[in-house]
Amino acid sequence: MVTPLAFVAAVLSVVSFTEAIPTRRDDAFCVQLLTSCVNAGSNAISDPWSIPACIYGATCFGGSHPIDGFLAAVAASQNATAKASLNVPRVTVAVFNHISTDEKVVTQQNFIDGVYGTLSATNGPYPDVSLVISSFQRVAIWTAFCNGAGVPFKNFADYFQFAATVNSNGCPTTTSSGLPISLPISTTIAPILSTSSVTATFLTSTVSTATGPTATPPPFPNISSEPSCQWQFETCVQSVNSDASNAWSQISCLLAASCFGGQRPVDGLLSVVFTTKTGKSSSLAPTSLAEARLSNATLNKISTNGSTVTVQNWIDAYYGQIAATGGPFPTSSAVVISDFQRIQQWTVFCGAAGIPFMNVADYFEFSSSVSSPTSC
Ligand SMILES: *[C@@H]1O[C@H](CO)[C@@H](O)[C@H](O)[C@H]1NC(C)=O
Ligand SMILES: *[C@@H]1O[C@H](CO)[C@@H](O)[C@H](O)[C@H]1NC(C)=O
Ligand SMILES: *[C@@H]1O[C@H](CO)[C@@H](O)[C@H](O)[C@H]1NC(C)=O
Ligand SMILES: *[C@@H]1O[C@H](CO)[C@@H](O)[C@H](O)[C@H]1NC(C)=O
Repeated sequence: MVTPLAFVAAVLSVVSFTEAIPTRRDDAFCVQLLTSCVNAGSNAISDPWSIPACIYGATCFGGSHPIDGFLAAVAASQNATAKASLNVPRVTVAVFNHISTDEKVVTQQNFIDGVYGTLSATNGPYPDVSLVISSFQRVAIWTAFCNGAGVPFKNFADYFQFAATVNSNGCPTTTSSGLPISLPISTTIAPILSTSSVTATFLTSTVSTATGPTATPPPFPNISSEPSCQWQFETCVQSVNSDASNAWSQISCLLAASCFGGQRPVDGLLSVVFTTKTGKSSSLAPTSLAEARLSNATLNKISTNGSTVTVQNWIDAYYGQIAATGGPFPTSSAVVISDFQRIQQWTVFCGAAGIPFMNVADYFEFSSSVSSPTSC
């Protein structure tokens, strides 16, 4: 396999990182990669990133949900139901090492070699290399590894799992090289695989899943053994709008999400608030990614300095809400401190200065789908 190295250098100098990315390219090689992926059979639906043609074919798709767009196209060609990118297995080390030459990063050259190598199985059609570079740039820009040194394994795998649901600031627009910049959530991202390192002091398994018009659940399921947490939850249910789309403008909902246990406390809370409020199936519940983002206006009701939320602010808000009914208060503020630690751990703002507004809002938007690799 001869790689058109000379073209690479020539094309790179004119490609702009700020160039608009088309939604989907239907160049002949992209169509072939999609076809080769589809022809791999049911694995193309259940484990697409084990198939190189699927990996490269997916990078022909852009727009706001690039990977999900590709998975939908594959499924449509098989008359099958598409899985969401969040729900298919990640790119494995073995597959990555097949693409990478140093088993650390995928460089643009590795990627070009991989595309041409995959197309050799069908004897082409071979594209102009600029089109392959354009595909690679989607990955480089989203992962913000823009200095030409390649995209590390974890970030490469993240692209296929999260590019459809998490936006990236991408590469700096003023320079075409330099250090990687951070994603909006300020950390590299990884899937949530293990339970929170915060000691959960609350029940996670008593949530009622009874749904539908014939079910007659109690007015409020018992979501916590901590009466003050149960109180925040019930107050949240009463105060949210009819489809629970404004939960993050209700302070009781923020507090309830912080005391709700489990692996994905924010989505878990939204789900049970929705099912309790509407009596509808939890499959219709809003997810944190779709919910209206927590605003500065709401945060200003909790914060005392207009820019960060401290543990003391959270305690004050928690007790302040419950004061309206004179109880039940927690037996100790340690209960609330432990709740707040979930947000500190994920945002990695662990000190007395508090958590900046943007990071608190990020917690409520992203913590159920993106884990933080470090903690306090
Ligand atoms: C998908 O369904 C269409 C229309 O029913 C049919 O023509 C086509 O052969 C099916 N394709 C596959 C892969 O089953
Ligand atoms: C909720 O469940 C816990 C654990 O089973 C129990 O201790 C608590 O009393 C229950 N609360 C209510 C109001 O039923
Ligand atoms: C929210 O508040 C923070 C901190 O005061 C500020 O940096 C940010 O620009 C504000 N965002 C909006 C949308 O007003
Ligand atoms: C208040 O805001 C500033 C940032 O403007 C922050 O550095 C400070 O530590 C915050 N917290 C407190 C408790 O003052």
